[in-house]
Amino acid sequence: MKDGYKLMGFQYEFTGSLYSLGQIPKCKVAMLDHLKPGDKLLIAGVGHGTEAVEAARRGIDVTAVDISKTMLKYMQKKIDRVRLDKPIRMINNDILEEDHPQEFDMVMANYFLNVFPREKMLTILTHLTTFVKPGGAIVIGDFTLPREGGRFYRAFQTAYWYTAATIYWATADNAIHPIYDYPALLGSMGFEIEKIKNLKMLGMNCHWSILGRKKAGAQTASGSAGRK
Ligand SMILES: C[S@@+](CC[C@H](N)C(=O)[O-])C[C@H]1O[C@@H](n2cnc3c(N)ncnc32)[C@H](O)[C@@H]1O
Repeated sequence: MKDGYKLMGFQYEFTGSLYSLGQIPKCKVAMLDHLKPGDKLLIAGVGHGTEAVEAARRGIDVTAVDISKTMLKYMQKKIDRVRLDKPIRMINNDILEEDHPQEFDMVMANYFLNVFPREKMLTILTHLTTFVKPGGAIVIGDFTLPREGGRFYRAFQTAYWYTAATIYWATADNAIHPIYDYPALLGSMGFEIEKIKNLKMLGMNCHWSILGRKKAGAQTASGSAGRK
């Protein structure tokens, strides 16, 4: 399995926090209040696991998946620094090889889907939706889609994303693409947008966490949703 974060993994979380003036860590835990102790949470592309540790601390049953051994090594270091009563199930695998039909109350993808080109992102998002119980939620934390404010505001949001994308394209081989419209995509996959939390940087919405609720009785998302 390819480990794109072998060289740069050590600094990932620190740099992200710095680049967002502390907003990325807040974005990752923004929707944990929608879970209660004992609920089942899967985190895809977990990285260093800020939200995984916080969720486990709250008594949530956490499964964390990442393709990178390096990232999981740093997550383990984080776990070792705190005392968790509840162990986190850590899986080193490609998320597309995981199969958990309707197993989770919440599936979380923080700054994960943006590493992929559109077609692969859609395949992965569609796959993740199958893990969610009917009535459960999918949460996506990421860079905000520039769709409000004046020209300067949107230009800043766009440049802010492309700067980060270019750095990780050069160092981790991530894709460069326009910011994805996750609320629209989740809507097209049978999820109702229940909540969006905006995280401000310098007074501007630069990060957001989106909670989509799987309608009870919804069919598994279609593989062609959003492919336009
Ligand atoms: C941009 S980082 C985000 C990490 C973390 N979610 C965060 O917000 O700090 C993307 C993560 O997804 C992982 N990843 C990439 N492709 C993956 C795949 N196919 N299956 C599972 N994890 C993957 C990477 O190893 C990396 O840890």
